[in-house]
Amino acid sequence: MPTPHIQSSRATSRPGLPAEELTPASVIELRTGREMPIIGLGTWMLTSHTPESVQHAFELGYRMVDTSADYKTQPGIGKAVRRYNQKRESLYIVMKVEPEENGYDATRRNLEELKLAYADLVLIHRAPEKGVGEKLWEQLVRAREEGLTRDIGVCSYKIEQLKVLAENTGEVPAVHQLEWSPFGHSLDMLSFCRAREIVLQAYSPLTRGKRLKDERLVEIASKHRKSPAQVILRWDLQHGVVPIPKAYREDHQRDNLDIFDFTLDEIDMGTLDGLNEQYSALEKLDYL
Ligand SMILES: NC(=O)c1ccc[n+]([C@@H]2O[C@H](COP(=O)([O-])OP(=O)(O)OC[C@H]3O[C@@H](n4cnc5c(N)ncnc54)[C@H](OP(=O)(O)O)[C@@H]3O)[C@@H](O)[C@H]2O)c1
Repeated sequence: MPTPHIQSSRATSRPGLPAEELTPASVIELRTGREMPIIGLGTWMLTSHTPESVQHAFELGYRMVDTSADYKTQPGIGKAVRRYNQKRESLYIVMKVEPEENGYDATRRNLEELKLAYADLVLIHRAPEKGVGEKLWEQLVRAREEGLTRDIGVCSYKIEQLKVLAENTGEVPAVHQLEWSPFGHSLDMLSFCRAREIVLQAYSPLTRGKRLKDERLVEIASKHRKSPAQVILRWDLQHGVVPIPKAYREDHQRDNLDIFDFTLDEIDMGTLDGLNEQYSALEKLDYL
């Protein structure tokens, strides 16, 4: 199984670095050759004070922000990006289109809300009820060709749907965003995506706070003098999975980036993998 190409920073380009060399500035190489930060800020329900909150995250070192029109955070994120005093290229903006929309038009509309010229990644928000969304994919390809986005991907597709999409469009998504935590994940999906160099992005990685008191998780956290949330995010990174935890609280934002000074050993990783019970904080792991 090829290891995901995680790099310690843009300056170094050695693939497959050991987990202990990761930093908040590390990036992961996508199959398209472009790079994505290894951790991002989720913004679902970050409705109040979005510009200030995202600005604070940028100051702490976050470079990637995940949004969607229905989160109502696009205008605030756009403001924070414009206030940010570094180049737009140093940030990474992920947005989504709905299966029932025209992907090209929706991408344009979302960019207008953000007041940005391009997104870094546009994802199909969920698999369509029928089929796999080939037409939508082609609309996103057009958006990419016109420079409205750098990369395109999907959310919550089943393995079979990923296969059919690739067969029918001739292209494999760069990124697959899906609900992912020690309590609900699929190592089959991880190996399938690794083999095709599809990077997994973990949404609701902290189970929306619902499973952070689990005793087995707390025990590992105490051993490393870290919080349960930090252990989960570290588990993601060591699997080559990119988490996008949502955090409004400033201490949460800071803690979620403070995951680069410890390493989970094989036993810890095995224990965390073993917590899997296909749990979903949103009631269903759609990709299973
Ligand atoms: N593609 C999709 O269909 C889809 C679906 C769901 C979510 N997403 C994306 O994924 C992002 C993350 O998922 P999510 O928002 O569902 O949930 P999450 O990131 O699993 O959990 C967020 C909750 O955890 C709390 N939290 C954050 N850091 C913490 C820490 N260090 N210790 C304790 N609690 C902490 C937050 O509190 P505070 O906010 O009060 O700090 C918030 O209540 C979303 O915001 C969205 O961008 C995508």
